[in-house]
Amino acid sequence: MTWRFDVCVVGSANLDLVATTDRLPGPGETVLGSSYTEHAGGKGLNQAVAAARAGARTTFCGAVGDDDAARRLLAVIADDGIDASALRLLPNAATGRALIGVSAAGENSIIVVAGANRELTESDVSAIATSARVLLVQLEVPVATVRAALSAARAAGVTTILNPAPAMTLSSEILALCDVVIPNEHEVEILGGVAELLRLGARAVVVTLGARGAKLCTSGADDVVVAAFAVESVDTTAAGDAFCGGFAAELAAGASLAGALRFAAATGALATTRAGAVPSLPTRPEIDALLTRPG
Ligand code: RIB
Repeated sequence: MTWRFDVCVVGSANLDLVATTDRLPGPGETVLGSSYTEHAGGKGLNQAVAAARAGARTTFCGAVGDDDAARRLLAVIADDGIDASALRLLPNAATGRALIGVSAAGENSIIVVAGANRELTESDVSAIATSARVLLVQLEVPVATVRAALSAARAAGVTTILNPAPAMTLSSEILALCDVVIPNEHEVEILGGVAELLRLGARAVVVTLGARGAKLCTSGADDVVVAAFAVESVDTTAAGDAFCGGFAAELAAGASLAGALRFAAATGALATTRAGAVPSLPTRPEIDALLTRPG
């Protein structure tokens, strides 16, 4: 089988509006910020950029409005050499926005206003989801759209990966369409646990553990744990997206699940060393350098 792309990402694209502050506010509280920036983000676009920078021929399918935010995101997509032939440009919708607070400790809190992302339909994704060796989806676009992409990909023999973020419950019908699920510790509990995901048919469940690394779980084999790479972290925004994009890219390149796990851990770690979402995502040479770093 000849694939047009290595990785197809179906998902959200947002303009991220980021304020840094000493500490994040609690409910009803106002705190003073120390800086403000705007840049490209959205879990889908972040994962597409991560895969492309890791060396995968990547296509991104999402929906944006007809506004300045969309033009900024389109420039990023073009700069990173990502195919946008299935990207929807919607004249009557606003591009998605994410309001992000980042504390001095590098923690974040995020509110996503979906806008055009909510308009991505099943018919928008079915064809492109069969165009790549690996399909990668998340949950910032309608669940029916995610299901359509997974279903079309599964029928075409594409390897399907779900990053179930933001956390929500999903039907067993959707979960059964996933070859690999990449949740964090919170998300895996909401989905019923690792054993349940494997029972529903996942070939692997990769649980990201933040500063403790990540673990690969498969049926009938011991878990494989990779420790977090030691780096100077400044902002964890999009670290999970970097992990997923790196994992998909390396799996599409023919790596084993364990090989893709280690590559993904390096990609995610590097994304914490720079501020922002898309601006923080590492290139292939940076990832290779971390993987071969002595000690
Ligand atoms: O995972 C980080 C992303 O979540 C941000 O870029 C923001 O847009 C939200 O989608």
